[in-house]
Amino acid sequence: MNVGVVGLGAMGAGIAQLSIEAGVDTIGREVTLELAKRAEGRIAHFLTRKVEKGQIDAGARDGALARLTLTTELSDLAGCDLVIEAIVEDLGAKHALLRELEQICRPDAVLATNTSALSVTEIASAISTPERVVGMHFFNPAPLMRLVEIVRAELTSDAAFDTAYAFGEKLGKHPIRCHDTPGFVVNRVLIPLLNDCVRVLDESRVTPEDLDAGMKFGAGWPMGPCELLDLVGLDVHVHASEALYEKTREPRMAPPPRLVAMRNAGLLGRKSGRGFYTY
Ligand code: CAA
Repeated sequence: MNVGVVGLGAMGAGIAQLSIEAGVDTIGREVTLELAKRAEGRIAHFLTRKVEKGQIDAGARDGALARLTLTTELSDLAGCDLVIEAIVEDLGAKHALLRELEQICRPDAVLATNTSALSVTEIASAISTPERVVGMHFFNPAPLMRLVEIVRAELTSDAAFDTAYAFGEKLGKHPIRCHDTPGFVVNRVLIPLLNDCVRVLDESRVTPEDLDAGMKFGAGWPMGPCELLDLVGLDVHVHASEALYEKTREPRMAPPPRLVAMRNAGLLGRKSGRGFYTY
């Protein structure tokens, strides 16, 4: 099996890492070689940490890294059985990408999208073979989070859906099946919940540290909501919130003004060095 991953940001690099660790020849595409190399460096770093911690041996790391090919040319994905896109969450950009992939890839190749807040059906509508498009929604950080949502769009074929599900299992994930509704399963719950947490910050005048302690030690969360927002990225969260609010018009989906202000000020969390916390 040959897999292509388009976009090697935090999510794409994590998916590519999972794929090569699962023994799959994987081709990662970025817009510049420098960005691709940076992602490869991050993957090598995480695999080396696993070696240092005795989770894998050096041979397994080297074997995995040898299965990763980098490219800037989409045409190099021509031989892929499955292509997973993890590019910017912009419908126009995803449409343009799918149109190109439809020309390049074999007719039976499955095209999966890692979108978290856009409609898979809308994404698929750009091409003449929408039945081959399916959602594969991974969670951040992809190598560590066990879940992948396999999302059936209106026209997704059983074959494409089954391929995505089987690949999720091959990666060692716990796939769940769902339909293409706003936020799918987890974000439909998690996004308004995180927004509520931020509203509580303002209402109860609790500190981010204490709110995080509250949810970790009082509700068993693995990390507090402010830590989690910093991990996900405030830009990503606000964008997803806005997209879900636009679709559902539920007030809790709308991003709280405090988060929008932080996003606008460039306080994006870990990726920018500062969010609720300083890194
Ligand atoms: N990629 C690969 N490996 C990574 C990694 C990454 N991005 N980040 C960390 N690791 C590796 C590191 O090597 C790390 O070990 P070292 O620090 O020794 O190098 C190792 O994983 C384990 O890290 P931790 O010891 O920090 O692991 P932990 O046991 O504390 O768990 C966690 C970390 C899994 C992130 C846990 O805190 C957790 O489950 N947090 C909640 C995360 C969550 O809810 N994510 C969903 C976000 S929402 C979303 O993604 C949806 C969306 O559409 C926006």
